[in-house]
Amino acid sequence: MNPTASPCAAPIGIFDSGLGGLSVLRAVRAHLPAEQIVYAADSRYAPYGQRDDDFIADRTLAICEWLVAQGAKALVVACNTATAQSIALVRERLSIPLVGVEPGIKPAALISKSRVAGVLATQVTLRSARFQALVERHAADLRVLCQPGHGLVEAVERCDVSSPALVELLRGYVEPMLDAGADTLVLGCTHYPFLDTAIRSIVGERMTLVDTSVAIARQLERVLDQHGLRAQPASHADGSMAEGAPARFCSTSDGAHLRTLAAALLGIEAQVECVSIPSRRTRELEADAA
Ligand code: DGL
Repeated sequence: MNPTASPCAAPIGIFDSGLGGLSVLRAVRAHLPAEQIVYAADSRYAPYGQRDDDFIADRTLAICEWLVAQGAKALVVACNTATAQSIALVRERLSIPLVGVEPGIKPAALISKSRVAGVLATQVTLRSARFQALVERHAADLRVLCQPGHGLVEAVERCDVSSPALVELLRGYVEPMLDAGADTLVLGCTHYPFLDTAIRSIVGERMTLVDTSVAIARQLERVLDQHGLRAQPASHADGSMAEGAPARFCSTSDGAHLRTLAAALLGIEAQVECVSIPSRRTRELEADAA
């Protein structure tokens, strides 16, 4: 970043274990079109849902530090798993405005008429103290059916959002919820909004799907305003609004999937930079493999 430029002109750093955070990026671009974005996908080490707690904390901190080094003015941890596991640590270590994500239990408790709601999320998110506290705080009178979405992050990471095998996997997760009377389904992982068409093909109109990406974009707007960091929309000489700069996409793997999904689901033709973000645990992995 140009050192003389206003801090408001610096980018927002958005991070996910892989491609799921693109659902948050889509909402941020729609809601805050003047903002520049650096997106970091840790696809080389995804999914996080199968990793141990220390690994997730190590990677989350390393990638947030890397985004700060890229000049980010604020960070969005666009991963429920990383937020559940590590946001407290990141807040402790980095003095930068920070937004995390969490499953939409609160909206589900407001929406559900049957008072039964399903939650699809990773095992790490569902067993976290943060998630348990969220349910206790907002859903005391709601029956919450928790289902780990084993295999779903992997499917999205290989750009499979509609194959018959994927629909069958999803059916095994959501039909028992329908049978138990659930009328609401919380998509508690940022990869899952990309499966909404597949989920709809199973549940039809019988369930309301809760995706918090728009709420996250609004929260980001509030946080930027609190810190006086919101980008000013650029305008053309004729007074019309200029488009924001294209996002900068970075991946710790070869980036091919990030490029494909950004094109297929967001209509963005992205150049993806392959980046190396070593951390204590990945150095250990590499030493073990050598
Ligand atoms: N998008 C991440 C989340 O929201 C996926 C976690 C994973 O990599 O397992 O939880």
